[in-house]
This record gives sequence, structure tokens and C-alpha cells, in this order.
Amino acid sequence: MIHNKNDLFVLETRDTSYCFRVMPQGHLEHLYYGRRINLEQGYEPLLQKTTFLGGTQIAYSKEFPNVGLEDLCLELSSYGKGDIREAFLDITHEDGSSTCDFRFRKARILKEKKILDTLPSAYLSDQGSEPVSLEIEMYDSNYEITLLLIYSVFYDSNVITRSAKLINTSSKKIWLERIMSCQLDLDAEDYIISTFHGAWAREMNRYDTPAQPGIFVNDSKLGISGNRSNPFFMISQKNANEEYGDCFGFNLIYSGEHYAAIEVNSMGKLRVVNGIQPANFRFLLMPGDSFEAPESVITFSNQGYTGMSHNMHHFIRKHILRGEWKNRVRPVLLNSWEANYFKFDEGKLLKQAKAAAEAGIELFVLDDGWFGNRKDDTSSLGDWQENREKLQHGLKGLADKINALGMDFGIWVEPEMVNEDSDCYRNHPDWAVKLPGVSHSLGRNQMLLDLTKEEVRSYLIDEMARVFSSANIRYVKWDMNRIFSDRYSSSLDADRQKEFSHRYIMGLYEVIGTLTRRFPQILFEGCASGGNRFDLGILCYMPQIWASDNTDAICRVTIQSGYSYGYPLTVMGAHVSGCPNHQTLRNTSIETRFEVAAFGLLGYECNLTELSKEEYQIVKEQIAFYKKHRETLQFGDFYRIKTNDRGIYQWLCVAPDQSEAIGLHLQKEVLPNYPHTKFKTRGLKEETSYHFTNRQQIFSIKEFGDLINMISPIHIKKDSLVHNVIAMVKKMPGEVEDSKALGCVFNHAGVKLKQAFAGTGYNEEVRLQKDFSSRMYLWDSLNE
Ligand code: GLA
Repeated sequence: MIHNKNDLFVLETRDTSYCFRVMPQGHLEHLYYGRRINLEQGYEPLLQKTTFLGGTQIAYSKEFPNVGLEDLCLELSSYGKGDIREAFLDITHEDGSSTCDFRFRKARILKEKKILDTLPSAYLSDQGSEPVSLEIEMYDSNYEITLLLIYSVFYDSNVITRSAKLINTSSKKIWLERIMSCQLDLDAEDYIISTFHGAWAREMNRYDTPAQPGIFVNDSKLGISGNRSNPFFMISQKNANEEYGDCFGFNLIYSGEHYAAIEVNSMGKLRVVNGIQPANFRFLLMPGDSFEAPESVITFSNQGYTGMSHNMHHFIRKHILRGEWKNRVRPVLLNSWEANYFKFDEGKLLKQAKAAAEAGIELFVLDDGWFGNRKDDTSSLGDWQENREKLQHGLKGLADKINALGMDFGIWVEPEMVNEDSDCYRNHPDWAVKLPGVSHSLGRNQMLLDLTKEEVRSYLIDEMARVFSSANIRYVKWDMNRIFSDRYSSSLDADRQKEFSHRYIMGLYEVIGTLTRRFPQILFEGCASGGNRFDLGILCYMPQIWASDNTDAICRVTIQSGYSYGYPLTVMGAHVSGCPNHQTLRNTSIETRFEVAAFGLLGYECNLTELSKEEYQIVKEQIAFYKKHRETLQFGDFYRIKTNDRGIYQWLCVAPDQSEAIGLHLQKEVLPNYPHTKFKTRGLKEETSYHFTNRQQIFSIKEFGDLINMISPIHIKKDSLVHNVIAMVKKMPGEVEDSKALGCVFNHAGVKLKQAFAGTGYNEEVRLQKDFSSRMYLWDSLNE
């Protein structure tokens, strides 16, 4: 809902209000963003009362000597008229100056969601009769430039989006040095900034920093959104937790370099801006030209991190994801990468595929290595013809055989790249990004293709369309494995070279937009060395992203917890891989690997033909279990119940209709003699009765090593033949949980789990949990 009365604008979602007003001199004063309030009786209390300016502040004008832009909450700021904080906008005019003064000209309230022309936008599919977008026209009369501030309201998600469009309505050229997408000015309190940082195989670690005077920056200079700092971040009250406290969430619908600054100034104001990274950026706008800033996403909840996360999850599921796969359950897949890397042929793949089909896997994905002369990562990117030595019957031959096994077939591509050792580069050296006459730097031995060039984009679209139609391809993993360097395009004049990065991203959107529209039946999964481009821009085209190349279950709990603050489980690819794990050499049980991956889009990425009979049987059961419950796991409400509480993580997914819930209890390290713990749910129906059980695990007697001698009548040497034979015939069924109670009992009192092994005895009533072990719990509603 959007209301406008005189100078006041109010944007309302189900639980929040966002208000600002036009000041007498024409600037926009931000009044409030937070829990929903009713301003029917006036907004006088929200106004900042300034009669005299203090100290060395600049007075805006002679007519308005008490307006000091340095100490006001504003919707839009720029340099030159007294606001010395992080600016929304920075322009260099033809006369060399950079003073801007945008003031209110008019407003338009729209019933349709305003969509951007050059970048992906969030959308509303069920447009009602309520106004959803607001366009405020700001004008700089000194330089005759127009700026549109665009706001949209996503009522049920409690989300507001903002973006901006600069239009050069003057007769002179201008250089746009910086344009943000959102600016939110608040009164500084004891806020904590939470940002998510990492690297390859170590994505999304949460860091908390107090918001103190000075500037905190969360940004990327990688060319892409990147794994070093995800564009999602939050700002919360000092003592906020999962259930209580004010929490703001921010994100950006953009896959290029992002920038967010949180500045606390010396007058007690906190400013948040986010948008395109201004370093490496400068856009020349000729008279009549315009520039669109990506859409920024903001949300607020007074119900702690979980409230904020649920808003973001709802928004992404409903207003970012699109296409046939938006609400469709995602298939369980087998990815060929970790089992084969570059070494495979049709026979080997088919053997693995057969084992996959028999285990219940629905989709076989052929990863890197199937094209050109690709034997390792030094060659062939750009040559998208199948390698006939490996695929004797081509992609089609393999796909047909996979289909005959009852599975769908999918492939890996990395279209944005080229190796120097490729026919593509040999034929079109000018398509690669490089500086003329300067030796260029490589990333994973490869170069970027110049997507600012129309010729390259249309080649890529045609080439990928050919590959995608060459066999019955139902899934595509779209990878991107390097960051930018040597930025330059021969398609751009010297004074436009800093437009390269943004033009690349617009080019990318054109390519993936065209292909995803042309192949709606294909399930696309984004990837960039794992989570190096995990952002809302990609999610507008591809409904899921490979979250990390790190498949170690213990690393994954941190990584997936990190993503879950800003992104729903339905977008995160998660696989069970072999052990010792290829990234960490850690051993974890097949059950832990499964139980963590099941809180994501489940896949397997290991050689199923080489599992022991027992493990293969376990995998079969895992897949059957996952299929039965995947609607809850993929589309349910996700709660972080415990996050690294003495090494314990508890996750919970509650079905949208609350008919069932699935919990994970994972322990990184055994805490000796600490056997009792409970699981307190959230989100079960209070007055509905639930049956509480667990996914029972079966253990080997060898888990106890030589402790077997405590019960054995004869002495058994550890790892001896006798020990191994006994282990084969005698299995130990794990503990069984079985209780019933109303949802309110589980929600408020929790359930005390069976005692954990603590060195003083063991039987079937004891929960055997070693380091890196987990349990899955179920709550089934007993009412229809
Ligand atoms: C990247 C991806 C991996 C795999 C390899 C193949 O690293 O993230 O999942 O596809 O490329 O080269």
C-alpha cells in the first residue's frame, strides 16, 4: 500500500511502515522505517526540529538557513550542499564541478510494479488494485538533470525495493561517478552490522561489527558479486537474536560488483547506502541518455533474525524466482565432477548412472570435461563440441541412454570464458577481454569473453542454443570460474572504459535472459566456483545456485547457515560427496553428509558404484526419505534453532501447511559427559498434536573399537579378522524417539532427546553421537 497526503508519503507492508516527506525547500526527509505505525493523526512527532544550525555545519540556503543537510535523515543525498556523508549520487558536470542539488518535482503512484528496462527486477504476479510502486521525480535546476527515485512495496513479504534512474535532461554531457540504489538514514542506536565473507570453498561466514562513528564497507571489486563479501547484509539491535529484536535486511538484485557503506556520523545519524561499486565505474551520459541503478531490497522485522530471514525467503520465492521451476520440486541429481573430474568415457558414466537410477536418482549431470580437447583446466573453453574420445556417441547418445535408465540428463557449461588454447580464441582473439599490447593475467588459466560486444553475445546465444537442443537436455549448470582483471573492451571509447564492468553484466543478463526464456523446460543452476556469484540477479534467471565447491558436511553447516540468513533453502545446491572429503580430507559418515545436504537441494557427487553394499543401501533409503519429505525441505519455513552453540547446530524446516517438520541436530565435537540436550521447535501449530520420531541410524560395532571387550566373552583384537566378521553380522540399531504432544509443547518446552553416549554405558536407549555426527527428527501432525 502506498499513501500520499500533502507532503507525506507512506509505504506500508503487512507489518512495516516506511515514511518520508517533502521538506519546504524540496529535499526528502526520511521520517521512519520500522514496525507498522498509523499516521492518521499526524506525523509531527517524527519531524526533526531544527531552529538553529549547530557548529560548523553548512546552511543549505539563505531562504532556509536552518536546513543543515549534514544532520538530517534524507532519502537522497549528493555532494556540494552540506551533506558530507556517503552520497547516493555523484556526478561530474561538463564544467568540472560535482555539486548537485536534487529537489522534489512530482510524484506518480502506480498500480503496476515498475520494472527496469536494462536490469532484472523483482515482480508481482498477482497485481491487485492497490498501488505498489511510487516514482518520485527529483530535479537539479542548476544543471537541468532529472533523477527518478523508484519505490515498490511487496506487502506480504514485508519488503520494499528501491532503485533510481538518472536522465540527462540537460543539453550538456555528464559523467555519472556513482549512483546508489538505496539510501536509508536512521538515528544511530547500538546497531550491529552482520556481513557474510569468505573465499573459494569457505563462503558465507557471518561477521558482526558494531556500527560506530566512521564508515564500514561491504563490497566487491571482483567484477562479479563474489564470495569475498556477499551483497546480503543485516543491521540489528545490539541484543537481537533469532526471535526478538529489530533487524533490517538488505540485498541488491545485481550480479556485478556491489558496494554497501554503513556510516555513523558525528551527529548520531546512521546511513546505509548500497548499489553498484563506484570504484571502476564512470558512465558518460550524453543529452537524452539515462542510467538505471539495480533494484535494492530492504526488509525489517522486530522478530529478530528469523523474522527478517522469513521476509527475505518469502520475497525471493515469490517475487524473484520465476519460470517453470519456480514452485516445482527439484530433482535429486548425480553430478559427475568429484567422481571423475576430467577422466571419463561413456561406459564409465553409464555404469555410474545405472547405480544412480537404481538408487532413485532422477537426474544425471555431466559436469566439466565433455567438450573440445578438455583434459584438464588449461584448454578448450569456448569449443562446445563434444569430445568423441570420451563421448563415443556424443551428447545425444549419452542422453538417450540416460533417459532409457529413467533419468533426465543435464550438462555443465562455462560459456562466458575462453582458454587461449581453444579454436574459439585462435579464431577470435578479439573476443577475449584484454588490454591491447599488454600481457594479460589469467584466472584458472582462462580469459573472459567480452560480453559488452553484440557479436559475442549473439554468438554465445546461438552456440548455447545449439548445444541445449543437441540432445534431450533438462538441466544446465552455468559456471563462471574467474574474476575480472585487465578490464578493457575494444568496443568502448577511451572515456567509456569504466563502463565495461556494468556493460558486461547487462550483456550477461541479455544472454541468460534469452536462453532461459528460449528453454523454459531446462532447470538452470548458477555456479561460479561454487558461491562466487550467489546473488539475486542470477536468481531472477536461474532458480538455484551451487552454494560452494566445499562438500564437507561440517564446513557446509556454516556455509548453509550463512546463506540461510538471506536466501531460502530452495535456491541452494548441496551434495553428498565421497570421503575423505576432497576439499578438507575430513571423514564424516554418509548419514551426516546426507542430513546436511538434505537441508538444501539434494544431490550426490561421488562414485556410487564404489560404495560398499551397506552404504549403497543407506543411500537408497536416504533418497526415498528425501523424496517423501522434500516439499517441506525445499519449500518450508526454515528456522535456525541453534547456531554453533558449543559446536551444536539445530535446523528446522516446517511444512507450509504445518503438517510436518523436519529437524537436524548436528554436533561438531563431542562434549564429554554432557549427555542431555533438547530440541525446541518453532512454527508448529500450537493446538495440533504431533508425533515426534527420528530417522533411525544403524551403527557398526566397530564404532566402539576395543570397548567391544567390555561385553565380549572372548578377547577381540581391534581391527582383527574376528572383529571385522562380527561387525559384518552384528549391527547396532540406533536409538528410537517416539512421543506425542501438542505443538505448543514442542514449541515452548521442547523435547528432551535421548541421552547421548557419555562413556559410562551404552544400549539402544542411548544416542550414539561422535564428532561430526547428526540426527534428523520428524514431527508429524496427527490431525488430517
Ligand atoms: C567449478 C565448479 C565445480 C565444477 C568445476 C568444473 O569449480 O564450482 O562444481 O563444476 O568448476 O571445472
